[in-house]
Amino acid sequence: MAKTRIRFVCPSCGHEFPRWTGQCAGCGEWNTLVEEAVPTAVPGRARSAANGRPVAAVALADVRVDDHPRLVTGLEELDRVLGGGAMRGSLTLIAGEPGIGKSTLMTELARRLPEATILYVSGEESPQQVKLRARRMGVTGERLFLLAETDVEAISEAARTLRPDVLVVDSIQTVHRPDVPSAPGSVSQVRESAATLLGLTKSLPTITFLVGHVTRDGSVAGPRVLEHLVDAVLQFEGDRHHAFRILRSIKNRFGAAHEIGVFEMRDNGLVGVENPSALFLAERAFGRSGSAVVATMEGTRPLLVEVQALVAPTAYATPQRTAAGFDPRRLQVLVAVLERREGHRFSQNDVFVNVAGGVRIDEPAVDLAVALALVSSLQDVPCDSGAVAIGEVGLGGEVRAVGRLAPRLAEARRLGFERAIVPRTGLDSLRPPDGLELIGVGGVGDAVASVL
Ligand code: TYD
Ligand code: MG
Repeated sequence: MAKTRIRFVCPSCGHEFPRWTGQCAGCGEWNTLVEEAVPTAVPGRARSAANGRPVAAVALADVRVDDHPRLVTGLEELDRVLGGGAMRGSLTLIAGEPGIGKSTLMTELARRLPEATILYVSGEESPQQVKLRARRMGVTGERLFLLAETDVEAISEAARTLRPDVLVVDSIQTVHRPDVPSAPGSVSQVRESAATLLGLTKSLPTITFLVGHVTRDGSVAGPRVLEHLVDAVLQFEGDRHHAFRILRSIKNRFGAAHEIGVFEMRDNGLVGVENPSALFLAERAFGRSGSAVVATMEGTRPLLVEVQALVAPTAYATPQRTAAGFDPRRLQVLVAVLERREGHRFSQNDVFVNVAGGVRIDEPAVDLAVALALVSSLQDVPCDSGAVAIGEVGLGGEVRAVGRLAPRLAEARRLGFERAIVPRTGLDSLRPPDGLELIGVGGVGDAVASVL
């Protein structure tokens, strides 16, 4: 009998190793490697890879392109994140923590696309459970077909028979291929099953959404491993205790990455939020210190968000620096810049920074708003509530230029802001929207002087 070979796979990044090691050389995570059996090759399989089909390359000029390749779902926030609708023949991963609303989002499709044939494969819930959810949402779904199945071959067969416009597989962790010798949810099952579904998606063609669960520590196999395979990865995020959900494109072969869609979870389903800036500013603390507003860009869309800082006397020898929705290391840099360049003293204080509304901001343009919120809290003087701040802060305390100021300023004006603190560089070539005064600053000190 042939000996079963084993290998070790990192669920976080998909790297494979012949031996177990404590740290994954691929992503640097500790203790992530799991053992699995190496799939045995079927004899003769490699030689008949094309299954008898003629293998021929095609001239670019002869490639036929669908004139209407996109299906507009009517769920505008989803369409935007997908890059203007769902591409036929595309495989999209919807990743998120359990209970965040992935199944609900997929059920919304049936509401928005009553004419389209949707095959909803559920490996987690029975058709009755899916029906109960749909009923609660008020979705009748005449063209919504349910299939409680976990075998990928059976799913493929059902899809080939039904030829759906949209195929939903909920979730990729529950499906399996019988020829792969490991349990559903393992790295190889997830990868091999997704590869089969990818082939199915391209050959039908259909629009496939794979639902994938991730936990906060990323310990469930799947989504990270799938990133290279699928056309788009949409991450569904949000605090389960709040109604707002953000759908963020991590990768998209057919649209911009970092695009976001904002939804509100209601009793009867998910609705798109048309004006997220207004939403994120709704609970703003007027007249209180430690708050500043930034106009950030999320994909192609400007978004106004409140940055909050709290500077409080510390009880420890080493004061804390904590940030939510903002890079903690960046916070340390900004605190150091404010200490060294502007003479503000934080060394006896704990510093907390929070981006309101559960938003996460990665771009440097938020630096200036964070710095202003910090100084505002330290001095207990509120910032000018009619001003937004946009700018990157350099190590010398200088405020550096950022890209795409025009849409940011337009959004600020639309929400009633009257002043914008912006980098002085490149200011001359800029025409502000009517009613918005631009205040160009060269350094953090100038910015502090103009808003505090
Ligand atoms: P669900 O879509 O099942 O999450 P996931 O598939 O990501 O695990 O939804 C989870 C939560 O959403 C659940 O706690 C109930 C809530 N919910 C609503 O608030 N409104 C609704 O219309 C639905 C269907 C669910
Ligand atoms: Mg679900």
